[in-house]
Amino acid sequence: METLNINDKSMKAIINHLKENGFIFQGSEIYDGLANSWDYGPLGVALKNNIKKKWWTFFIENSKYNVGLDSSIIMNSKVWATSGHLSSFSDPLIDCKACKTRFRVDVLINHYYVVNCDGWSNDQLESYIKENNIKCFTCHQENWTKIRQFQLMFESHQGVIKEDKNKIYLRPETAQGIFINFNNVKNSYNLKIPFGIGQIGKSFRNEITPGNFIFRTREFEQMELEFFFIPKDEKDSSWFDYWVNQCLAFMKDIGLSNKKNLNLKVQKNNQLAHYALATIDIEYNFPFGFNELCGICNRGNYDLTKHAQASKVKFEVQDPNFKTKKLVIPSVIEPSMGVERLLLALVCEAYTTEIKDSKTRVILKLNKHIAPYHIAIIPLNKSKLGQQAYDIFEMLKQTQLRVVYEESAKIGKAYHYQDRIGTMYCITIDYETIKDNMVTIRDRDTTNQSRVKISELKQYLYAKLEIIC
Ligand code: GAP
Repeated sequence: METLNINDKSMKAIINHLKENGFIFQGSEIYDGLANSWDYGPLGVALKNNIKKKWWTFFIENSKYNVGLDSSIIMNSKVWATSGHLSSFSDPLIDCKACKTRFRVDVLINHYYVVNCDGWSNDQLESYIKENNIKCFTCHQENWTKIRQFQLMFESHQGVIKEDKNKIYLRPETAQGIFINFNNVKNSYNLKIPFGIGQIGKSFRNEITPGNFIFRTREFEQMELEFFFIPKDEKDSSWFDYWVNQCLAFMKDIGLSNKKNLNLKVQKNNQLAHYALATIDIEYNFPFGFNELCGICNRGNYDLTKHAQASKVKFEVQDPNFKTKKLVIPSVIEPSMGVERLLLALVCEAYTTEIKDSKTRVILKLNKHIAPYHIAIIPLNKSKLGQQAYDIFEMLKQTQLRVVYEESAKIGKAYHYQDRIGTMYCITIDYETIKDNMVTIRDRDTTNQSRVKISELKQYLYAKLEIIC
């Protein structure tokens, strides 16, 4: 048996934890898996749903500005030609002629030198490789092909005939579905600038270097808001700052409150996406270092302007900064975050090992918005106390609490399992319960126990979890 390192927050420990406890499984496992694809088990899907629900409440339902949308994954290919993704959404690749290994060029260079080569042309990259005698790190030869750009969008064909005119793409971002529906949403909902349209959905990128577990995959979910407004002048960054702060508030709300683990990174001009005027990434301190969790981008009016030109549909609105009826195309601030990256960050933050009474406890200290279950109901003896415990489970299921019924293990084991999956309180029904109609409530984080009357359970738990009726 492996000994547990008490400070072990390594990716290995976290991945094992998520696999062993039914959160995440290897995709296509019975067929030897499919590289970098992951399936979410009962607890994993609960975490994802809780993250998405919280995002939707925070950014859509509780916002006076924003409304929701659910647009198609597959869209007319003209969307991608117009947005610039067909021409610009690609990564530079190079092949070793000797051993045929293929590399993403920035990954190859960064294997040897810490250098930021974002935005470099193929000529610049090739010169750098030559001048620094960069070798293949598989066969150590220096025998390279020319650099080619690799399109990151997945292609398919609509209908039975595989010809170019039927070519379609899986969306690499949900944002374009919002831009092309700008007039539909604005006019049907009678919205006035400023307003935002948000959506949650799958995106697909044929990433050349997926990895770090669920951090970078080819299929993932995005939660994106496109916030439309008219800037007062070129320097007006008020809405950009507002949405950066909103994203930070959202992170805090879901449990990323340790400021030491978050970093704001301003992207340099040569790092910006083809549509961006400015971008700030919120980075999280993953076990493999600080990496992007969420991006807040000023897309200017790039997308609506391009779609207006290509479709001949007008996307102009009246400029509220002018007394005249001047028409302008709105600008956009886009806070965009990935569900899986947030899940990984939340688990890294919550994963805790503690020693108490010389016993090791692994605890997932997820907060009330994210924990799969608030409450586990556990009878001390399944055959004698099971019915009474089940009645309490039935009663609490009718409330806003997320409850699970657990009778498969002895009490100590049951507590430890519930700690590992993040359940906030365990309610034990014991022999005393039959006499005094009270149960024991155990707090996950302190392990403190209190006795509470069954008739007062709901109010007690609502008060603990600050749930408002
Ligand atoms: N619409 C803007 C956009 O897509 P992005 O920075 O490419 O911007 C936004 O992606 C967010 O989506 C990222 O911050 C990250 O959380 C998530 N994301 C992007 N690529 C991903 C991938 N390959 N795997 C998992 N999540 C990804």
